[in-house]
Amino acid sequence: RAEKPWGGRFTEPTDAFVERFTASVSFDKRLYHHDITGSIAHATMLAKVGVLTDSERDQIIAGLGEVKEEIESGRFEWSVTLEDVHMNIEAALTDRIGSTGKKLHTGRSRNDQVATDIRLYLRDEIDVIAAELTRLQAGLIALAEREADTIMPGFTHLQTAQPVTFGHHMLAWYEMLERDYGRLLDCRKRVNVMPLGAAALAGTTYPIDRAFTAELLGFDRASGNSLDSVSDRDFAIEFCAFAAMLVTHLSRFSEELVLWTSAQFNFIDLPDRFCTGSSIMPQKKNPDVPELVRGKTGRVNGHLIALLTLMKGQPLAYNKDNQEDKEPLFDAVDTVKGCLKAYGDMIPALQVNREETRLAARRGFSTATDLADYLVKKGMPFRDAHEVVGKAVGFGVREKRDLADLTLAELKQFSDTIGEDVFDILTLEGSVSARDHLGGTAPAQVRAAVGRARASLEAR
Ligand code: ARG
Repeated sequence: RAEKPWGGRFTEPTDAFVERFTASVSFDKRLYHHDITGSIAHATMLAKVGVLTDSERDQIIAGLGEVKEEIESGRFEWSVTLEDVHMNIEAALTDRIGSTGKKLHTGRSRNDQVATDIRLYLRDEIDVIAAELTRLQAGLIALAEREADTIMPGFTHLQTAQPVTFGHHMLAWYEMLERDYGRLLDCRKRVNVMPLGAAALAGTTYPIDRAFTAELLGFDRASGNSLDSVSDRDFAIEFCAFAAMLVTHLSRFSEELVLWTSAQFNFIDLPDRFCTGSSIMPQKKNPDVPELVRGKTGRVNGHLIALLTLMKGQPLAYNKDNQEDKEPLFDAVDTVKGCLKAYGDMIPALQVNREETRLAARRGFSTATDLADYLVKKGMPFRDAHEVVGKAVGFGVREKRDLADLTLAELKQFSDTIGEDVFDILTLEGSVSARDHLGGTAPAQVRAAVGRARASLEAR
């Protein structure tokens, strides 16, 4: 098996270091399944158009099946001399079935073969990731419904802004993931185009039937230009862009979960099974899972930049540079799957400390805007109302009391228009319920949004 399939024109063996330096088998062997699937379709097509006999096709398919079993049983010996997954499998096939195996590569090149393999691989992974993303979204929807009435402070600049409902806050994350899902499916459309038939770069002289192969492999269509087909890695970049955006969202979410589990916030509890302890501080329960997801964002963003940079200087058509597409892509896939698995399991198990979030919403004058709106409804221009409430807040800060804890007489110092009915609007429940329109934080709106989100998941 150690003979190079391309050795004909060479007069000395490859330098031992160069052999290792140029080999990709250590990481591209994970494409074995898709490589074999692609080869079976190729052989089937070659027989259909008369380039192979039916018996040759059958030998090739049976032989590839045996090679696959050997790989899956762990008995297959991968050879660095044979460089990559493609030549390893082809050589193993020829070992088994003899010279018929050497006919498999008719009308094909590793250039269109590898491009096909990665697309088949990524398409499968996209489907797995789409399902995991859906599971996480379903978890968020359930949590939002459970906490539709739970009051918490909403923040801008991480300072108390206005009260919101916890469910509403969770649905903000849901919306981001919904856009990520859309990006993923959109990327899939461009992944699902078949390069096979482009051969090395110019196409092939055999009477191939590309539409037939595309159909066998479940591709939407065969690609339209052979040069582009073997050199295009846009689809991998797009996937990494999706991945970078998704983990960036999860990273922001993680930042909140880390803050919220701290003793100072104490908004939520994560079950022990998602946390770890400290070897020195006995009291510690660390939110490792969100921290690690936040940390993994660095590597995924890095993979996006790696692929963009990989492509930027490449002339047409295939260049060996492209071999560098795999490790970033594989790691982006693995990392996204890991993060989604962790989040999908953790989110439904998150416990909200409702008393604490409510108390926190009472701090920081979160209903000040409600008081201003109250004055406006009594006829005061908004800018004047803003000024009046600002003064009342200043008083409250000095007195260390919330607006709702001031007496009517104290409030009246700032405006005569304030009446007994002000205390209804200064409550947290009154504040959130008043924001009762599409996209607002009122519990009724959270329930409506939960309904829409569920319908959207069901329609997938
Ligand atoms: N291992 C190569 C890659 O990953 C396969 C294609 C190699 N083609 C070539 N002409 N050297 O890109």
